[in-house]
Amino acid sequence: MTALERAGLGLLHRMDPETAHHWSLNALRAGLAPLHGGPATGARLATTLAGIPLDNPIGLAAGFDKNAVAVAPLMRAGFGFLEVGAATPRPQSGNAKPRLFRLPKDRAVINRFGFNNEGAAAIAARLAMRPRGRVPVGLNLGANKDSTDRAADFAAVLACCGLHADFVTVNVSSPNTERLRDLQGREALAALLAGVMDVRATLAKPVPVFLKIAPDLTEGDLDDIAEVALTSGLSGIITTNTTLSREALSDAQREQAGGLSGAPLFERSTRVLAQLSQRVAGRLPLIGVGGVGSGEQAYAKIRAGASAVQVYSAMVFEGLSLIPRIARELDALLARDGFATVADAVGTDRERWL
Ligand code: FNR
Repeated sequence: MTALERAGLGLLHRMDPETAHHWSLNALRAGLAPLHGGPATGARLATTLAGIPLDNPIGLAAGFDKNAVAVAPLMRAGFGFLEVGAATPRPQSGNAKPRLFRLPKDRAVINRFGFNNEGAAAIAARLAMRPRGRVPVGLNLGANKDSTDRAADFAAVLACCGLHADFVTVNVSSPNTERLRDLQGREALAALLAGVMDVRATLAKPVPVFLKIAPDLTEGDLDDIAEVALTSGLSGIITTNTTLSREALSDAQREQAGGLSGAPLFERSTRVLAQLSQRVAGRLPLIGVGGVGSGEQAYAKIRAGASAVQVYSAMVFEGLSLIPRIARELDALLARDGFATVADAVGTDRERWL
């Protein structure tokens, strides 16, 4: 981390977390944040995810740039791919503030935003205007809190934004919209995905569709999800969203309601990733997310079964220079262990997590 970045983070951490988040997006848009300048890449790091070529397998997780306001600068931060959103059909303000909490003692974050966003139309317009380059940009799809047909909301956002995204993610795993995660059940999920796939078939460009799941699922739930995923035409699964569990935390904010992310989520989300990999490996790519804060952790997710990873909370504590650092460290670890490519390492240490 440079002295400038350290000073910037110090300033941000003196603000309330949501204000700091707002200012970090503003700094990116104003060109004030130090950026790496395009994705780190090389023969070992370059890979393919559901047919999408990536310069490196390190992505930005959904929820950092909910409204796609900083896509162009984020494309120059070193990520191999970005995910923006969640977008819901209609704009909504989300839950009452405060709704974002830093847990520095635990290197963690708790949020209960509840899909605050400017709505699908505004986000589609921004995605349409973005520069086209080497960094694919996906959109996280959500449902309005007051919707009478939540499943239809996912299809509606896809219909509105699908042409402007390189992939979309059906997010049925946010803990902050009541009963949303019930859509992860076998019948509800199959029906929801059928609706999404019907819309996808009408698009001029058939965009890859990912599913994002919670880390708080049983092995039986994972059996159902794997079966539905394999029969529905999905392109991949993102494992995982934030957790409702609160194990071994020491920060004073640990009892805040919402989804926990960051370091304490690493083990749990990697275990779910490996369990899912056991069920779908070779047939569906997985994206590992939850607590990644180093090249070693990105490498562990890949060896547990992920074809690519995503990062959010660790950036709150380490800044954006973390991203090219993770890519460099990952490259060195692949070289150390004799892997010629990321793809060669996928799933090679899965048994350890089962
Ligand atoms: C999130 N996350 C999230 N996920 C999603 O699918 N849609 C969303 O809108 C959001 N919003 C969101 C807001 C905030 C403030 C946080 C911290 C997280 C979850 C995120 O994409 C990721 O799955 C988890 O945070 C776990 O990864 P990290 O943060 O441990 O790297």
